[in-house]
Amino acid sequence: MTERLYYVHPSAYVDEPCEIGVDTKIWHFCHIMAHARIGENCNLGQNVFVAGGVVIGANVKIQNNVSVYAGVELEDDVFCGPSCVFTNVINPRSQIVRHGSYMRTLVRRGATIGANATIVCGATIGRYAFIAAGAVVRSDVPDYALMAGVPAVQKGWMSRHGHRLPAPDADGLMVCPESGWRYQEVEPGVVRCLDWPEDKPLAATTEIARV
Ligand SMILES: CC(C)(COP(=O)(O)OP(=O)(O)OC[C@H]1O[C@@H](n2cnc3c(N)ncnc32)[C@H](O)[C@@H]1OP(=O)(O)O)[C@@H](O)C(=O)NCCC(=O)NCCS
Repeated sequence: MTERLYYVHPSAYVDEPCEIGVDTKIWHFCHIMAHARIGENCNLGQNVFVAGGVVIGANVKIQNNVSVYAGVELEDDVFCGPSCVFTNVINPRSQIVRHGSYMRTLVRRGATIGANATIVCGATIGRYAFIAAGAVVRSDVPDYALMAGVPAVQKGWMSRHGHRLPAPDADGLMVCPESGWRYQEVEPGVVRCLDWPEDKPLAATTEIARV
């Protein structure tokens, strides 16, 4: 028998076959269905459900009481706050079978979904976007956008380190107070970090690093 390189609490159910990455931890009362794929170094808190066929990237943190239904994909470094809600049928009716007509939800690298937020299916949450606690998201969210409210509206931009970006300076730059990295709205509704590519993982050190 091969050695298991991830941790599953004895109270959790993991249906085989499925893929779970090295150093991932699956805590109390979770249920992982067959054919789910979970990357390395993830943390699934108490009472997390992952449906069959779902793909979860590396270093994803899922807090307590979250169900990741079929049709949902979480890229690397996503944070799901406690009791946030995913959906996969836009117009459910108990008397009508909609298996096979699930709508996709894609949460892109590094995005945060706040506690108790709801993501209505069909939306893509952009890289490093930040969904505030309790928000209801109905449509696509740009990279780095801070969304709040019901329905969610954009309140501003959030840095990769999780700080609301100030208004642009005279050069059109928004500087993160933690990292010092510069962000710019390069075209209307499109923000980019000038100091670190969106798809590049953070350096192990918290020192400011410019490419
Ligand atoms: C969004 C958040 C990060 C605050 O950001 P912030 O920029 O420091 O917030 P501010 O207090 O300056 O508020 C900015 C605006 O968003 C609004 N806002 C902030 N959080 C909100 C929320 N959860 N729902 C609705 N509106 C919210 C504020 O009222 C304010 O609106 P205004 O500009 O019209 O006055 C925080 O409220 C939040 O929701 N964090 C998520 C916490 C969480 O779920 N953690 C999970 C792990 S335990």
